[in-house]
Amino acid sequence: MSSTLRDLGDGLVLRCLRKSDLDSLEEHVKLVHGEWIDNIAQRLLDHYPKFSLEDNFVVIDTKVEKIVAYLCLLQRTFVLEGVEIPVGQMDIVGTHPDYRNRGLIRQLNELLEERAAHYKLQLLSIAGINYFYRQFGYEYASPMPMGLPIPTEAIPKLKEDEEEPITVEPVTKDTFPDYLACREKVNSFLDLYHEIGPEHFLFYSTGKLGEPESLRFFLVKEKDKVVGSFFFGKDFGNLIVKELWLENVQLVPPVLRFLKTKVQEYQCPLRIYPPSKPSLFPRIQRIAGARLSDSYAWYIRIPSIKQFLELISPVLEKRLACSEFKGVTDTLKLGCYREGFELVFRKGRLKMVNKLAIQEVKEMEVALPPLVVNQLLLGYRTITELQAIYPDVYCYSTKEGLVEVLFPKLRASITPSF
Ligand SMILES: CC(C)(COP(=O)(O)OP(=O)(O)OC[C@H]1O[C@@H](n2cnc3c(N)ncnc32)[C@H](O)[C@@H]1OP(=O)(O)O)[C@@H](O)C(=O)NCCC(=O)NCCS
Repeated sequence: MSSTLRDLGDGLVLRCLRKSDLDSLEEHVKLVHGEWIDNIAQRLLDHYPKFSLEDNFVVIDTKVEKIVAYLCLLQRTFVLEGVEIPVGQMDIVGTHPDYRNRGLIRQLNELLEERAAHYKLQLLSIAGINYFYRQFGYEYASPMPMGLPIPTEAIPKLKEDEEEPITVEPVTKDTFPDYLACREKVNSFLDLYHEIGPEHFLFYSTGKLGEPESLRFFLVKEKDKVVGSFFFGKDFGNLIVKELWLENVQLVPPVLRFLKTKVQEYQCPLRIYPPSKPSLFPRIQRIAGARLSDSYAWYIRIPSIKQFLELISPVLEKRLACSEFKGVTDTLKLGCYREGFELVFRKGRLKMVNKLAIQEVKEMEVALPPLVVNQLLLGYRTITELQAIYPDVYCYSTKEGLVEVLFPKLRASITPSF
């Protein structure tokens, strides 16, 4: 069967994954990413929604019949202020040490981009190593908090005459919809989040704890009423708790006491990740006696800024409608030096996004270097913040108000990571 997509010479061929490659792939993933990673590609193929062999790209060294470089494309949905955005995530990216710096990931990425275009994905994301993905048009454009370490000694003890007011129940396939209902409450505090559905349960809940995105979901109950939810996984030797939602802040100590039992069970330190209901984190920080430190960030690529702006036009219109620019008729020339766009607003509606000819791109009303523009469009930083950092970001004073309203800073959380 000849399914070679590219012949790279010297016995290297680039093609989609085949079932018969799975053993070689497992060996490759263990060698490149760590012995502890068990069968992740098989787990994804078995359980991840909308994921097939064609979404996996490999370079094979035909001289030794081995996979020497690999990456895959996962399809996800982000929700931006109510608008669903089809997103692709590049994942499990790796090259055998003997084959590095020969451009193999660059070539694999080109095929991934073609596949992403075929699926009409409007954003591409990756939680990646420092700098590397900038070379492929990605920019750090959404927050990735590092989590707050919680010393178990600091967790308030139950008094002798007290009983725990809650029980914490593991979520099953049948109760996953209850978890998702709680998750909506977490998401109600966010402008941008990763949407998951019942179809994701099997992927997240299979695999051993410690493997990528092998998670355990929980519901917190007071008598029979659901009053909270969270999930945990094991990552880099920590028990990491995310998507914590609790109906009231008094439930923080009992939940921490439950987590303390898990810390003892898994023998690893506890970290809790924001965001959650805004009132919860200050209480958790007080107990921990520490504050959140710096965060890393998600890399985001925007394959077509025009298409992205068109897709989020209801969001832009809603932002205008809630501002002093309600009903505005105006245009905005937004440039990123190598390309530019004219946003045409009529009576508060985004009528058109015109891509400008390169000669016109010199006369922009707001301009940002390519990729830095991703930070603005994804609400990672405001135009004012970007102007303070980058000398080549500018905005006409006559358009500052409009740009601030169109592109505010967003409360964003992209969990789970897969
Ligand atoms: C990072 C890694 C995937 C790069 O694979 P690779 O096949 O060597 O990558 P490529 O040769 O296609 O590199 C593309 C470009 O990035 C450069 N590059 C390679 N590794 C780099 C690194 N770690 N940081 C920055 N640039 C790097 C290459 O020189 C090349 O530049 P050029 O096109 O201008 O010549 C590989 O080193 C690896 O598997 N590392 C261990 C696992 C890992 O960290 N994976 C990423 C998880 S997010």
